[in-house]
Amino acid sequence: LDKWQEVEKSFPPLKNDLLLRAAKGEETERAPVWVMRQAGRYLPEFLEVRKSHSFFECCQTPSIASTLTLQPIDRYSKLDASIIFCDILVIPQALGMEVLMEPSKGPVLPKPLINPDDIKRLNKNVNVEKELGYLFEAITLTRKGLLGRVPLIGFCGAPWTLMAYMCEGGGSKTFEKSKSWLYKYPKESKELLRIIADVCADLLVGQVLAGAQMLQVFDSWAGELTPYQYKEFAYPASIYISHKVKSILKQIGHSGIAITLFAKGANSPSTFKLLSDPLITGYDTLGLDWTVDPLEVREFVGTKVNLQGNFDPTVLYGGKQGIENEVKRLSEIWKKAKGGWIANLGHGITPNVKPEDMGWFLECVHKYSKRD
Ligand code: CP3
Repeated sequence: LDKWQEVEKSFPPLKNDLLLRAAKGEETERAPVWVMRQAGRYLPEFLEVRKSHSFFECCQTPSIASTLTLQPIDRYSKLDASIIFCDILVIPQALGMEVLMEPSKGPVLPKPLINPDDIKRLNKNVNVEKELGYLFEAITLTRKGLLGRVPLIGFCGAPWTLMAYMCEGGGSKTFEKSKSWLYKYPKESKELLRIIADVCADLLVGQVLAGAQMLQVFDSWAGELTPYQYKEFAYPASIYISHKVKSILKQIGHSGIAITLFAKGANSPSTFKLLSDPLITGYDTLGLDWTVDPLEVREFVGTKVNLQGNFDPTVLYGGKQGIENEVKRLSEIWKKAKGGWIANLGHGITPNVKPEDMGWFLECVHKYSKRD
């Protein structure tokens, strides 16, 4: 307890709390805006750093991770949040799996989990301080470098998405290896999800104690599951994390933190209902992808949970007028949806976006999300 308060007191005071207010359900004067993958390959200053450092070297070196996190904040005064530079795949690494980032292929895990026997290969009782302490250091450093400009978001991958990478050995189009686990080995799949979830929770708690002011759990492959599989496998593992995080924080006298769940593509009405009550799920905010209409989602989730999203990432290729038209159109809809709204893309920003188009997008969100 004392340690957390000491750390918190050492940071400059927060000057922009729009994100934190929207995450508590406030209909803010305008929508706070940030963009998934906002530190990334569309920024020339990011590519410059990547010339001389491998991807995981960037994640594992606190000064580099902090520099990369601050790059979009320094460039765009209109961003309302920062997200720590790291990757969801540091959890499989902490569990003992090798993860490579290949320039053309993305992540590769050379020794995937083939069957339940392979669960024995995973490290037991992962000590996140020891395995992933670099992330906590990066967070503390970044809070200082932010000078209170905007809040800092910590994150992790959701158990199902991480299990998918660990069983597929990388990305996949069909998810046949990971999904066949769910059919062949349902019990062991749940065991694996639980092992992952425990590391996720510890990692999120560590991030909060290091200075993260909000959290997001990325379930990027939730949409590959049937609604039944989502409810049976992904959902229990995801809410295990949020409840564990919140109960540990409560135990140590922490004032609490908002958590967002981005379950991409998990868009069936029954799934939205399942995620509608933060008291049940532990998730204050749901991230929406671009395939859904915010007002329709509101009908399914009601008004207890806040929403984040959901501009189509390709709007950033739409040119100035196209971006403005679309931000105006969708903002009008969002303003009719009740509760907190955090503006974001419906998935990460892609590498070929022109940095000035990202800047224009942010300006348009500021202008058109204003409530009168
Ligand atoms: O959002 C941010 O700016 C913070 C940093 C961040 C990264 N990855 C940096 C990154 C975050 C939050 C992530 C999350 C992540 N990583 C997800 C969930 C979000 C999503 O996109 O669905 C997933 C699925 C991963 C796994 C991953 N990492 C993939 C599939 C790839 C390769 C494909 C790609 O988009 O590049 C990565 C690499 C990665 N992670 C890069 C960055 C900036 C680019 C790699 C490089 O620099 O060479």
